[in-house]
Amino acid sequence: MTQSTAFAWIASDLQRVERALLEVVPSEYPEIADLIGGLIQAGGKRVRPALLLLCARCNQYDLERLIPGAIATELLHTATLVHDDTIDQATTRRGKATLNSFLPNSGAILLGDYIFAQSAICAAAPGSPAVVTVFARTLREIVDGELRQALANHRLQVSRTEYYRRIYAKTAALFAAACEIGALLSNAPDDHRIALRTYGEKIGQAYQIVDDILDFTATSQQTGKPVGGDLTHGTATLPTIITLELVAPDSVDAKAIRDVLSGLPGANADKAVAVVRDCGAVDLALGEARKLADEACAALLTLPSGEARNALYDMAETLVNRDR
Ligand code: IPE
Ligand code: IPE
Ligand code: MG
Ligand code: MG
Repeated sequence: MTQSTAFAWIASDLQRVERALLEVVPSEYPEIADLIGGLIQAGGKRVRPALLLLCARCNQYDLERLIPGAIATELLHTATLVHDDTIDQATTRRGKATLNSFLPNSGAILLGDYIFAQSAICAAAPGSPAVVTVFARTLREIVDGELRQALANHRLQVSRTEYYRRIYAKTAALFAAACEIGALLSNAPDDHRIALRTYGEKIGQAYQIVDDILDFTATSQQTGKPVGGDLTHGTATLPTIITLELVAPDSVDAKAIRDVLSGLPGANADKAVAVVRDCGAVDLALGEARKLADEACAALLTLPSGEARNALYDMAETLVNRDR
């Protein structure tokens, strides 16, 4: 994925982001520095900073002001992963043991809080109140998304409207923010800023749909995190929602899924996952992700044609076609 034209075009700026990310790790507490540094160095695709840099390239920018903004988005994302893994009791992330797998939950949550705080410091660094406002709103939205997911857990009826609202909050809001911050820090005119934010929102929803598909179709070696857990944990994502629309309500297949979703003791999770995988729902879900990617690109028509816009088109395709 990082071999794509878009990533290659911003490779040197991304390397600066990478170095700066390691520099913000707290040096006064070596134990904490090791844990947070380990998480950052474990990798991650750096999609949010990449989007921020690409959006800034649509206008004029000063890289020194962009870097803290880019780090803020990656650290905010990293903090949400630490909390998400603690909530889910996930064992691996980016191919490494999660913090919650060897620390008490309270320790993992506090480390997540520390990373949240560090991301806020970075968001304030460029000295733009508008950037801080976007950042703060996004933080609230992400928490709203995780709350929505927790409240919807084990529910057998999840509408697409509710699903799209949830994935906007937990994932697309940060993609939209990364794009908008790139626009703000490059003094983009208002119509460009709005177009870039819309692009980020649509591509962010597509990105989460692909993540939800990979939870059914990928291996944990590919993704660096446990797979197959969404359904088992009682979370109905788009492939499951579509499956429940496709199968007859009183069929054995529908019952298999309902049993797992509702957390019925002894329910056969492997069977339910196989039903989702084999009924055509994955292709239909991918079709929805592709449609959103097309809408994301269509939003960019107000921007002048050129290398930056083409790179954003390439990025949209890369993010939807990813397999990790
Ligand atoms: C994982 O995000 C959580 C989602 C919002 C889908 P990424 O897939 O971008 O995770 P990393 O940063 O590459 O590890
Ligand atoms: C993204 O959703 C969660 C956050 C926004 C933190 P997932 O719960 O699907 O993310 P993964 O699959 O654990 O990376
Ligand atoms: Mg998760
Ligand atoms: Mg997932």
